[in-house]
Amino acid sequence: MTAQIIVRNVPPQIKDWLAEGRNDGVSQNERILSALETAYRQRRQVRQPSLFPDADWMPSDQGDIEQDPPLFKFVDLFAGIGGMRLGLTAVGGECVFTCELDRYCRKTYSAWFGDNDIAEDITKLKIRDIPQHDVLAAGFPCQPFSLAGVSKKNSLGRNHGFLDKTQGTLFFHLANIIDAKKPPIILLENVKNLRSHDKGKTWKTIYDRLDELGYEVFDKVIDAADYVPQHRERIFIVGFRRSVFTSNVKFQFPAPPSGPRPRLGSILEDSVDDKYTLTDNLWKYLVDYAEKHRQRGNGFGYGIGDRDGVSRTLSARYYKDGSEILIAQDGKNPRRLTPRECRALMGFPDHLDIQVSDMQAYKQFGNALVPKIVEHVGSEIVKVMKWQLLRKSKSGCLLKK
Ligand SMILES: C[S@@+](CC[C@H](N)C(=O)[O-])C[C@H]1O[C@@H](n2cnc3c(N)ncnc32)[C@H](O)[C@@H]1O
Repeated sequence: MTAQIIVRNVPPQIKDWLAEGRNDGVSQNERILSALETAYRQRRQVRQPSLFPDADWMPSDQGDIEQDPPLFKFVDLFAGIGGMRLGLTAVGGECVFTCELDRYCRKTYSAWFGDNDIAEDITKLKIRDIPQHDVLAAGFPCQPFSLAGVSKKNSLGRNHGFLDKTQGTLFFHLANIIDAKKPPIILLENVKNLRSHDKGKTWKTIYDRLDELGYEVFDKVIDAADYVPQHRERIFIVGFRRSVFTSNVKFQFPAPPSGPRPRLGSILEDSVDDKYTLTDNLWKYLVDYAEKHRQRGNGFGYGIGDRDGVSRTLSARYYKDGSEILIAQDGKNPRRLTPRECRALMGFPDHLDIQVSDMQAYKQFGNALVPKIVEHVGSEIVKVMKWQLLRKSKSGCLLKK
């Protein structure tokens, strides 16, 4: 957010305080925004009902006075194992509702976040059971839109995208929830292929529906390789409700962090159980399969990870043969990553112990979001929230747009 705050007619001591910040390398904008945030948090302690009191929904839950109130409330739909939750909590969010169909994901999520009250199938939810929130976060299922999903479904003669009756329509359930709850901000995530699927028609349907629901929509494909040692491109969709933020809302996706990219070698364990080494049969099968495809002129095949580079994308089918990310070993067949290495490859913290079998853990990490990306996107969203608070504040500060 580049809007410049202009300060006029303030007492000399405030001018001095702003000047002090400049000497410490803190910009005037940063100093004012930080003071406003503190004032806002203190105001919430005397029962501020909602971050956006003039949003076109009425908050129903006012709760008790909190010791350390969160900056905003969010719901975590299609929660998986909580990549969204980790990222949004890191920028001041409080999760007030979770929904996840898969019982193994719920097991992991409950253990990691101490949350045992997780709704299951989103299609069976009563929308009134979802509490009011500032941000609706949803990494809705990607299978019908991902390249792997599409080619597999094509070869099985099945429908994909919105024609997939079970998964494609989940977007419309999500849209119904957005329509009913009217959250000021939405944050959605899906595979990169969403934009090009069905010659762009799927993306146009999604974009048009969100626009029709009253959102200014921003989208960007972000590669996780700037945050973790893995090439993993996902589309992030951020929507700001026009009735709250106006159609002039300015939002920018985060710039990639500076400095060298993380290296695959940095997440590998020194000593790994032999059970992760490929059997002679499986390794021969992968070598033959790759050779067959090479002769036909296409690039399908296993991938041996470059320790100084980044890995291919970890998929939910990694448990089958591990072929997309193999680690070379001296004098032995290559091995697959351990579940703990997958946890690190996705950027989940080490202290979150794996709760399920290896097979379920591979599936969970292969489906997850990289929390650091959510955190960086979330911090840009928070800038817009602060801008909105400032725009509405009666403090005498003026925003030059
Ligand atoms: C791409 S993953 C989500 C990743 C997650 N948001 C994160 O932050 O790591 C999609 C999730 O949607 C869940 N899901 C699929 N159908 C569902 C349904 N009908 N209701 C609720 N969850 C569902 C899947 O079990 C899967 O965990």
